[in-house]
Amino acid sequence: MTNQSQTSFSETQKVWAEPFKIKMVELLKVTTLEERQQAIKNAGYNTFLLKSDDVYIDLLTDSGVGAMSDRQWAGMMMGDEAYAGSSNFYHMEKTIQDYYSYKYIVPTHQGRGAENILSQILVKPGDYVPGNMYFTTTRLHQELAGGTFVDVIIDEAHDPLSTHPFKGNVDLSKLDALVDKVGAEKIPYVCVATCVNMAGGQPISMGNLRELRVWCNNRNIRIVHDMTRVAENAYFIQQREQGYADKSVKEIVYELCALTDAATMSSNKDAMVNIGGFLAMNDEKFYDQACDLVVVYEGLHTYGGMAGRDMEALAIGITESVQDAHMQARVGQVEYLGNELAKRGVPIVLPIGGHAVFLDARAILPHIPQEQYPAQALAAALYVDAGVRVMERGAVSAGRNKQTSENYMPKLELVRLTLPRRVYTQAHMDVVVQSVCRVMEQADKIKGLRFASEPDVLRFFRGTFEEV
Ligand code: F0G
Repeated sequence: MTNQSQTSFSETQKVWAEPFKIKMVELLKVTTLEERQQAIKNAGYNTFLLKSDDVYIDLLTDSGVGAMSDRQWAGMMMGDEAYAGSSNFYHMEKTIQDYYSYKYIVPTHQGRGAENILSQILVKPGDYVPGNMYFTTTRLHQELAGGTFVDVIIDEAHDPLSTHPFKGNVDLSKLDALVDKVGAEKIPYVCVATCVNMAGGQPISMGNLRELRVWCNNRNIRIVHDMTRVAENAYFIQQREQGYADKSVKEIVYELCALTDAATMSSNKDAMVNIGGFLAMNDEKFYDQACDLVVVYEGLHTYGGMAGRDMEALAIGITESVQDAHMQARVGQVEYLGNELAKRGVPIVLPIGGHAVFLDARAILPHIPQEQYPAQALAAALYVDAGVRVMERGAVSAGRNKQTSENYMPKLELVRLTLPRRVYTQAHMDVVVQSVCRVMEQADKIKGLRFASEPDVLRFFRGTFEEV
């Protein structure tokens, strides 16, 4: 939300503002420095373990935290909470078919519910699942099904300073190398994320996806689309890829989806609902198998873990998520935050991503070795400074290799400042910028961390730390 009285702009610069106004607000609590120091200690230096009441500006995630529109709230009142055949399911199904192209839809409680069903059906023990960088829950479900994830994203994605416009692209030569090594029959599908989260919210180009389509057709391998942030990806294609400047985000979203065979969706992001997801596909047999499993893990195939009212809000949210003006304001706010930080010399991942700004923790804390989790330490320090909650996306999130138990040491050791959709104002962004700069000035005082307790899986969620 723009606060232009604080912004200086030249006559030629085109300014933008959000395509909405505010009808209801939620009051925030401001804490003292001493309260925050105690809170982070109690949370074991893990921002996931902070109480939301102790947070001033919450940039932990963009998941389930967007602001719904009045229309979505009106839709909530139209919930048909029938156990079977809810009218909201059919509205949601038709919207997904119309906007995302997929034929069959299986609702799930959120994205990882869809990942579970997908992996159990398509991944066999000994299989390899290539993807344009891993996502935490996605990789875990592939591994639980006996598969091994293989990273096939272009090298530029691992370099925070590379300004490649499509750092989410797949490197087909890495796929060729995998086929040479294990054979195409060991690859059930290529997992393609739009706007790759762990790479810094970086898009894949339509050109690259088209090439991948041909590559997969030639080898009879499916493409499964992690479409969690597909609309943001479509916006970047519109802005950056030749031939797309005159196409709408809505058209580009459809074209992206139509190049793939199936999809998992965490719909509490792009589509601005608080909970929900789905698995979608074009193959009827796969759909049948998914219906068999959804009743085991989620609920009947016409609600799959979602309330009728949530399916209605999702159907409406999808239509809002692909509006050009919405997307310009959404990504525009992320770019505003990123540019203000970069201007002040804060090392961030470039280009600025679609849902978040990622700080390069290694560059900010060169005195902390990666074994002492600099991104985790930086996230904790940011909370203490001004009550801004952010998330580690580095060695802690990467976890351990399931065979060797060695820590993965990713090239990217990042802190993610994630922007909920339609929630914070530009003035909030200015507070965040000031806090990051203040923490950077005193970076040498920040200490490394070691685990005090380490869960076996997805350790970043519940692990606790102590200062080294
Ligand atoms: N895929 C991607 C790319 C995601 O970012 C997420 C969730 C999921 C799958 C899993 O979906 O949470 O609905 O089960 N990302 C959140 C985040 C948690 O903060 O990045 P889910």
